[in-house]
Amino acid sequence: MTQTERIEASTTKTLRDGRTVTIRPIAESDRAALQAFGTNLPANDSLYLEDDFQNPEITTRLANAASAEHWRQFVAQAEDGTIVGYTSVRQLPGWSTHVADIYLVVADDWRHAGLGSVLAETIFAAARELQAAKVIVQMLDDQVDGQDIFHHLGFQVEGTLRKHACDRNGKIHDLLILSYHMDQSTA
Ligand SMILES: CC(C)(COP(=O)(O)OP(=O)(O)OC[C@H]1O[C@@H](n2cnc3c(N)ncnc32)[C@H](O)[C@@H]1OP(=O)(O)O)[C@@H](O)C(=O)NCCC(=O)NCCS
Repeated sequence: MTQTERIEASTTKTLRDGRTVTIRPIAESDRAALQAFGTNLPANDSLYLEDDFQNPEITTRLANAASAEHWRQFVAQAEDGTIVGYTSVRQLPGWSTHVADIYLVVADDWRHAGLGSVLAETIFAAARELQAAKVIVQMLDDQVDGQDIFHHLGFQVEGTLRKHACDRNGKIHDLLILSYHMDQSTA
């Protein structure tokens, strides 16, 4: 990937339930709010995140990476200032620098109002800006809302790692890898 543009603008969205959020790039000052967001996530969802949002060192690292060249991070902020959603896309290292992977998570009490879909569209646009040739997103077999959202964007299940993930209750899950090839002719 070459030198890239960066979405800097913030947008305000009214969700299906009437609540309003601002979606904007993460800022270094978001460290504490991001940690509070992580602390309130359901146990299995914080497990899904590669980064432990309850760990101050991690939230500091994420917030400090606000301007990182090969990484885009966005938050959804409620009117009271709390962070209620997070999404990121990051260029992979080594022989997969043309690939970027996506994370997406919404606060439990903000789900089913369309926020996940809005954030998914935001981060998909950021992946294009990163000039990723291929985008992937990983999720458990039972994370069906995420599967619906990314299927709608055109992603397809490219691989399944069988019995690959263990949730907080000790239940073993298949891990799905959904992908989107930006140039569909090379998919
Ligand atoms: C996945 C997640 C981000 C969804 O957030 P959300 O704000 O609830 O997302 P939305 O409201 O936009 O979409 C969820 C709903 O829309 C459905 N959906 C969204 N877009 C859809 C589409 N285009 N077609 C069909 N169904 C769709 C989902 O099945 C679900 O249905 P419902 O709200 O009508 O009951 C959230 O559940 C979450 O954070 N889960 C834990 C982390 C995770 O699983 N991440 C997934 C990896 S991407």
